[in-house]
Amino acid sequence: MELSIPFNGGKIKLDLVVEDGVHHPGEAVIERLKSIEICGGESALDLGCGCGVYGLFAAKAGCREVTLTDVCPAAVSSALVNARLNGLQHVKCLQGDFFEPVTGQRFDIVFANLPQTPAPHPIQLDKWGGPEGTQYLTRLATEAPNYLKPGGSLYFCHTGLANPNAVNDLFSKAFDLKVVNQRDRFFQREEYESYQPGLFHYLMDLRKAGKAKFESNGEGWCFQTRFIRASKK
Ligand SMILES: C[S@@+](CC[C@H](N)C(=O)[O-])C[C@H]1O[C@@H](n2cnc3c(N)ncnc32)[C@H](O)[C@@H]1O
Repeated sequence: MELSIPFNGGKIKLDLVVEDGVHHPGEAVIERLKSIEICGGESALDLGCGCGVYGLFAAKAGCREVTLTDVCPAAVSSALVNARLNGLQHVKCLQGDFFEPVTGQRFDIVFANLPQTPAPHPIQLDKWGGPEGTQYLTRLATEAPNYLKPGGSLYFCHTGLANPNAVNDLFSKAFDLKVVNQRDRFFQREEYESYQPGLFHYLMDLRKAGKAKFESNGEGWCFQTRFIRASKK
């Protein structure tokens, strides 16, 4: 895929090859990238990088030291291929669980578009966020402050399916939050049933319990996806 992202009065172009089994960046990605503030010279980490879209954008936009990590070996090799394809020899692509590959380091900017679809049993690696969709977001809220420099920013994605009230409260303890991009994500029940039979009814139960927010729009369903800048307090 080819992306052309408006940035600082110009355009940043990214060519990305997305290998089978690696998360394909969705339609929202250009709007999200546009909303990122980069002055130049920052260090950045893309946690759960997939094909590397956030970290490689940051490297092209002027970040000096950029590290991309993912637990999935295919994602790391995809990110490495894409770094080379875009002439970004200076980025590091590391495999490992969550912050483990960068233990002891601190960054000016951390990106995290993490799996957060709730499901009672595991579904595909790039989607499953545990029974309430919050298992990675909870880790992120507690661990990210230790990996940010003073004044650093965490950019993360959060959907209405993953217990929005609880996640908001959790991040608010350590961060000031600003929604920098928000959009509707439409879906049909068949999409979630295809991930795991019975999943749509499971989501309806979470909704009834106040742990998921999505609405009917007559033709299907819709939840909000938010891209949030979290500034360390
Ligand atoms: C929703 S995808 C997003 C990929 C990429 N950031 C993007 O926006 O296109 C989530 C990514 O998190 C990775 N992931 C899942 N569990 C992880 C873990 N424990 N540690 C690091 N990465 C993980 C998945 O392999 C997947 O690439």
